[in-house]
Parts: sequence; C-alpha cells; structure tokens
Amino acid sequence: TCSAGGQETVVIGLAADSGCGKSTFMRRLTSVFGGAAEPPKGGNPDSNTLISDTTTVICLDDYHSLDRTGRKEKGVTALDPRANDFDLMYEQVKAIKEGKAVDKPIYNHVSGLLDPPELIKPPKILVIEGLHPMYDQRVRDLLDFSIYLDISNEVKFAWKIQRDMAERGHSLESIKASIEARKPDFDAYIDPQKQYADAVIEVLPTQLIPGDNEGKVLRVRLIMKEGVKFFNPVYLFDEGSTISWIPCGRKLTCSYPGIKFTYGPDTYFGHEVSVLEMDGQFDRLDELIYVESHLSNISTKFYGEVTQQMLKLSDFPGSSNGTGLFQTIVGLKIRDLFEQLIASKAKTPVEATKA
Ligand code: ADP
Ligand code: G6P
Repeated sequence: TCSAGGQETVVIGLAADSGCGKSTFMRRLTSVFGGAAEPPKGGNPDSNTLISDTTTVICLDDYHSLDRTGRKEKGVTALDPRANDFDLMYEQVKAIKEGKAVDKPIYNHVSGLLDPPELIKPPKILVIEGLHPMYDQRVRDLLDFSIYLDISNEVKFAWKIQRDMAERGHSLESIKASIEARKPDFDAYIDPQKQYADAVIEVLPTQLIPGDNEGKVLRVRLIMKEGVKFFNPVYLFDEGSTISWIPCGRKLTCSYPGIKFTYGPDTYFGHEVSVLEMDGQFDRLDELIYVESHLSNISTKFYGEVTQQMLKLSDFPGSSNGTGLFQTIVGLKIRDLFEQLIASKAKTPVEATKA
C-alpha cells in the first residue's frame, strides 16, 4: 500500500527570459545532483530535454501552440500566453508528477516548427524551465519549489551583446531593437511571475565602481521566501540580523573592486524574505572558501562543497561572481528539499498520498 500513489516526482520551476542563464543554471543544478544531463538518446537531435540519473529538465518552449510562422501571422511573440498551450502543459506536468509517462511535443528551435513528440518518463526530479512555469495557476500549484532569474535590463543587454554580437554577428542596433520589441510582453507576462517564486536571483550592475554600467562586475541578490516547507534560507553570521560584510581586509586581500556582502530580512511582494547579496567577484579560491565558511544553512554535505562545485564548473559563465555562487547554493538547497520531501513521504505514506 505504500506505493499506492506511485513514485511521485518532485517538480521544480525555473522562470526567466531567454538568454538569461537558465541552461547554465540547469547544468549547475544537475551537477549538484550528480551526473551530467544529456539529451535523450536516439531521439530527435533537436530535442530540448536534458536527462540525468535523477533529473529531467524540460523546456517549456515545447508547449508553444503557435510555431514561428503562426506567431508571425497572428502578430504575437513567444512570450504571449496565446502562443502557448497551458492546458497541455498542466495535463502533462500533472501526469508526470503522478508517475505517468507522457508524449511531450518538441518545439524545434532551428526550424521554428513543432516536431513529433518524445516520450518523457517520470524522473525523481522534474525541472520545467522556460518563460512561463509560474504563469498558469494550475501549473504553479504543481511546483514543489520555484525559482525566478531576474536579470536587470543593463545586464541583459550586456549578455545579449556578448552572445549575439560576438557569436552570432548581430548589430548593436538590432540587439537593442529586439530587446525593446520583447519588453511589453516581458513586462506583462514574464516578469510578474517573480512574485510567486520561492527564490529569486536578481542580477544588477555593481555598486562598487561608481557609474559602472558595463555589466561585467555584478551585484547579485538571492531573495529567499520565509516559511517554505523544507527550505531554510541561507544566512550570514546571525540569522535575521542585518549584516554588511567586506571580507577583504587583513585576513583576505581581494583585488579591485573587492567583494561586499549584505544580508538581512526584507519584504518582497508582501512576503517575508531573507536577502543575501554579493557585489563584486572572486579572484582566487581562498576568497571563495573563506566566504563559504562564513555562510550558514547552505545545505552542503561536507565542508567546502560549494567551492568544490564552483571549481568543477569554473568554465561556466558566472563562476567568479554571485550568479554562480547563488545558483550553486540554490542547487544544494533543492537537493536538500528533495531529500526531505522523500523522507517525509517515507514516514507518512498515507498522508503523502492525500495531497
Ligand atoms: P538561457 O538558457 O536562459 O537562454 P544561457 O544559460 O544559454 O541562457 O545563457 C545565455 C548567455 O548569457 C550565455 O551564453 C552567456 O553569454 C550569458 N550568461 C549566462 N549566464 C551568465 C552569467 N552568470 N554571467 C555572465 N554571462 C552569462
Ligand atoms: C522564444 C524562445 C526563444 C526564441 C524566441 C524566438 O522566446 O524562448 O528561445 O529565441 O522565442 O521567437 P521567434 O518568434 O523569433 O521564433
């Protein structure tokens, strides 16, 4: 009778605009869970899914109801809910959560068309990443934990330039224009989802260099909701106090412009939250391990695990600043949440099958 409800999948939502670091974050997350995530074997080479031993990551672009031509004809962007099939998204995420395999469509980013579906079997952890994981209330209610990557306009612009200009040969003007064109729908449909997130990673220009707008040195804020079951926010020195900490000094020398941490309670869309902020960047390993040793509730399994993860993936974008640090920590928190959820179900199988 313990298995009457089947093996339930833990579902995590990750929302952000495209080009804001979702796939980088996913690779950090699956690395924390152990084992790299690969595209499904023998399937469509244009599949957007990533599978590892424990985790399956699906991209919500696969629920586009209008393909590229359809969007053009109707004059809607991919950010517009009318271009997405939330009924199907809900049905399939619910089915997977209940332990049932589904035939999920594939949105082909190369052709802009919808390809024949692929079979998704229920994993231990399902991550749904994309533009709208928290948009539809039914889907939102299926999430055991949700994250929003909030990249400020200045930084988004800097990242886009780096990728689209350097790697794809687009002009500065066309990048500006495409960001502007997406903005109204972004503001209407994507950005409001952050109010529902259990954790938000906010990425802003540094305040350590006066007038800096380059988007190279970053100020990153990890906003953690209080009162979320199995999620205890990270803190610096003293839980609930307001702290400002510059680790660089006598014991640790940092290079310009240094590193500054801030921690404290706050409110976010009417919720009580804890906010941990890091401005600046790491230059050397001793800086990172020194910082890690002063953080509490980071859900590591051994001393230095955060630093070890950061080193392992040091070639990923954001490895020297708060984006990589906080993504790694959120990954560890999710591993912890998953383990606690599973343990709580094992203890009370009857209770667990009710909800
Ligand atoms: P998404 O999956 O949301 O489209 P990616 O993870 O592919 O985003 O990242 C898109 C681009 O943004 C990367 O190629 C990189 O140039 C830039 N980027 C992402 N995360 C960071 C980061 N933490 N620091 C600097 N640049 C980043
Ligand atoms: C969505 C997807 C992006 C894609 C964009 C292009 O935003 O998330 O990955 O680049 O659509 O849309 P288009 O209508 O130009 O094909």
